Amino acid sequence: MRTTSPLTDTPAPHRWTVAVLGPGGVGGLLAGLLSRAGHRVICVAGEDTARTLRQDGIRVRSGQFGDFTAPVEADTALREPVGLCLVTVKHTALTAALERVPPQVLGDGLVLPLLNGVEHPAALRERYGARRVVAGTIRVESTRIAPGAIEHGSPFTEIDLTGTAERLGPLTAMFEDAGVRTRPVADETAALWAKLIFLAPFALLTTRYGLTIGEVRTGRRAELAALVAEAAAVSGACGVPADAARTLARYDTFPAGAKSSMQRDEEAGRPLELDAIGGALLRAAERHGVPTPVASRLMSELMAG
Ligand SMILES: NC(=O)c1ccc[n+]([C@@H]2O[C@H](COP(=O)([O-])OP(=O)(O)OC[C@H]3O[C@@H](n4cnc5c(N)ncnc54)[C@H](OP(=O)(O)O)[C@@H]3O)[C@@H](O)[C@H]2O)c1
Repeated sequence: MRTTSPLTDTPAPHRWTVAVLGPGGVGGLLAGLLSRAGHRVICVAGEDTARTLRQDGIRVRSGQFGDFTAPVEADTALREPVGLCLVTVKHTALTAALERVPPQVLGDGLVLPLLNGVEHPAALRERYGARRVVAGTIRVESTRIAPGAIEHGSPFTEIDLTGTAERLGPLTAMFEDAGVRTRPVADETAALWAKLIFLAPFALLTTRYGLTIGEVRTGRRAELAALVAEAAAVSGACGVPADAARTLARYDTFPAGAKSSMQRDEEAGRPLELDAIGGALLRAAERHGVPTPVASRLMSELMAG
């Protein structure tokens, strides 16, 4: 329900209760921003992280938003209904993490996953029901450097939400009010594939060869171009025509030293989202009979470790 601010006599924004499953680079940043904007935020995390968050809140260092600390509630499981549950774990932890958010507890709340990849919305709809899940993507570079400590490096934080503008209006207003540029996008498949065809070549090549994007786009340009063409062909077969030349040109706009998050995970010895990114690409290629020799070889080499 909207209330009126006694000072300005203008409608105060609706106060949401938001659960954040996986308060890491993405989830921690959003948890901090939403708490700072006056919403009630419940982070759902492992025991140690939950304890730290309860004690210290979320500490954000950000060029875009400034440095701030925001209080949050934290628990190891969701124990009450919420208006919105952000799902911001890595894909490798998704199945285990979802156990912490039982469908019957969530109530009528919306579920908004912001993982990279194209297959997780179906798994979430299976668990929580189609009506509750809003697919989305986020453009940001944000890192959890310790439990509850978030370093946000990109000068932008942008969310695309899929669905009708009418349904997404309140959600869009909540994020925008917290400083996150948010736009409704009509076509879910298009939004998810647009991200994947850019991300998959970037992640697979930088991780496979341990090179920055600058080194890949110069030293391995033919391979990059071939991989982008394969990804664009798969996207097209999935109903989302993609412009391979334009995608290739986007890598040229990146700072030469940029690394993919998969590459940073590899360097830190963390599990890789290989299956959600390269695996999903190969599965879609196989379904549609699209040849992907470069992607297949890179995936075999990466999986062989
Ligand atoms: N980071 C970015 O800049 C960025 C940008 C765009 C998209 N994405 C995508 O967003 C997703 C999340 O990435 P991220 O970088 O934010 O990951 P992250 O920093 O590793 O954060 C993941 C969080 O999930 C928590 N977690 C792991 N297992 C859990 C479990 N079983 N139950 C509850 N919480 C659990 C971790 O807890 P602990 O803190 O206790 O380890 C951590 O806080 C990925 O799909 C990624 O590809 C990331």
